[in-house]
Amino acid sequence: MVCLGNICRSPLAEGILKSKLNPDFFIVDSAGTSAYHIGELPDHRSIAIAKKNGIDISNQSARQFIASDFNDFDLIYAMDTENYQNICSLSKNKSDLLKVKLILNEINPSENLSVPDPYYGGNNGFENVYKMLDEACNKIKNNNS
Ligand code: 4NP
Repeated sequence: MVCLGNICRSPLAEGILKSKLNPDFFIVDSAGTSAYHIGELPDHRSIAIAKKNGIDISNQSARQFIASDFNDFDLIYAMDTENYQNICSLSKNKSDLLKVKLILNEINPSENLSVPDPYYGGNNGFENVYKMLDEACNKIKNNNS
């Protein structure tokens, strides 16, 4: 799960998907394309909306997406089109590129929609992001079960 800062959207996406999958079979992680927030906890508003939904993301730590993530993961979900492009630009070959997907295309195929960045908005933005990600993660779970 990849966004820009790895403090708002992708930590939530990681927590939500982890809560739906069997950890014996799936490794779920998140990262940001930027280095802005490396080592930081998720935004307090992401921690709060996750907690409200029974998910604890308070032990996550932000990291930057790196090229070797293409070797370590089968699927790479970008939260928005800009980060999608930035991830693709780090790919080394066609097989890397084929791993990169826009997460909202899971629920709105081919529409190339972005999860809105809630960083500068209020709590409402985080509620909205949570709902979108929960729906997309239900689809991802079904795709892989
Ligand atoms: P995220 O949100 O990409 O969902 O983690 C953001 C967090 C921080 C910034 C931008 C987006 N920032 O510019 O610092």
